[in-house]
Amino acid sequence: MTKNTLEWLTESKKLFNTAKKVIPSGVNSPVRYFEPYPFFTKKANGAYIWDADNNCYIDFCNAYGALLLGHRRKEILRSVSVQLSKGTLYCTPTESEIELSKLIIGNFPSIDKVRLMNTGGESTMTAIRLARGFTKKKKIIKFEGCYHGAHDSVLVKAGSGSAHNGISVSDGGLDEVSKNTLVVEYNNIEDLKKTIRKNKDIAGVIVEPILANMGLILPAKNFLHDLRKITKENNIPLIFDEVVTGFRVAPGGAQEHFGIKPDITTIAKALSNGFTISAVGGKKEIMDLLSPDGKVYQASTFAGNPISVSAAISSIKTINKIKNKLYSKLERFNLLFSTALDDMATDMKIPHQINFTASMFQIFFTNKPVVDYQTSKNSNAKKFQKMFQTLLKNGIFIAPSQFEVIFLSDAHTQTDLNKTLDAYYLALKSVKN
Ligand SMILES: Cc1ncc(COP(=O)(O)O)c(C=O)c1O
Repeated sequence: MTKNTLEWLTESKKLFNTAKKVIPSGVNSPVRYFEPYPFFTKKANGAYIWDADNNCYIDFCNAYGALLLGHRRKEILRSVSVQLSKGTLYCTPTESEIELSKLIIGNFPSIDKVRLMNTGGESTMTAIRLARGFTKKKKIIKFEGCYHGAHDSVLVKAGSGSAHNGISVSDGGLDEVSKNTLVVEYNNIEDLKKTIRKNKDIAGVIVEPILANMGLILPAKNFLHDLRKITKENNIPLIFDEVVTGFRVAPGGAQEHFGIKPDITTIAKALSNGFTISAVGGKKEIMDLLSPDGKVYQASTFAGNPISVSAAISSIKTINKIKNKLYSKLERFNLLFSTALDDMATDMKIPHQINFTASMFQIFFTNKPVVDYQTSKNSNAKKFQKMFQTLLKNGIFIAPSQFEVIFLSDAHTQTDLNKTLDAYYLALKSVKN
């Protein structure tokens, strides 16, 4: 048990004790919990988030990457309030859905057609079903450490033995389903080749093109290009899970950044900058398999709801309008910040690694480069927790886990970053002692 250094969160402590009585573990998604109790949020604006005791934090969690443009972005609020006056849910097609689909297709040249849904998990579930429906095969390859949502096909860990058959990480998850998921080491193209050679029944390969769920792990040089080449040679649909990277690393996601065209793409978080929406897009011949025309079933009452659609339209239009400044600013901030953090940790002689790209970074307390699941797991998570708590105490909120990522947003200013570096200095000192 981590020592409780968060006693000053008086209201949050009270709320958490009440929440636990009516909400399992007191939270509505596991990662939101941290020891001894999470802070409860009252409000947020721009780069800032306020807890129930009115403490203000600079927010680097940014709703786990969704808020590329920051909290309460005015262009998006304006569009949503216009839509609110016209209704919240129709469950009939709208012209706005066509507009949004065209915008997504415009940004992602690998996408001919797109279907809107609600969550990232729903989008990867549909992408996998599409790949199976298209190939009439069963097995899916996923990479160790990549997270694709909370459904049985992807909620798997590597099993023992060379076949890497997945076993469920969750009680209640069916091994009958997870055994059809083969787990391969991220950044290990030989492991992928071997697995494809050994298994004839592969329906698709799903990957986070930049791994943002084991801390931040970057694809090795040529990894994604080799992955594309091998899947093409073997007629295996390649699914890029761009739930995190879509719109975040470039207006056309990681596929634009790396110049690769997957067969199927999933997008969610930064698509709407904070509203519930996700999308699956891909080649026409695959997407046309969706029902009712096709035989791959996908449906949802809230899919394409007008509120989220209006937010997503406004979000993409804003991104496209400011893209020349937006991405270079975020990359510049990230480079300056990561370099300064690296220097500080080096000066303090703290063994560490910093992985960063675009508007994402993470520090790991280890002296070995972090390139995959195992090297990420080997870093010192206790030190990370200590750092997290010291940052929080000094007004900085990052995601409370070593295996998440620090996300910059357009709302962050140079002053915010300077304050954050001061807090990291104290946090690193607390780790050193
Ligand atoms: C890469 C990736 N894919 C899928 C998901 C699942 O998205 P959701 O939580 O909206 O279901 C996540 C969630 O963090 C993710 O990071």
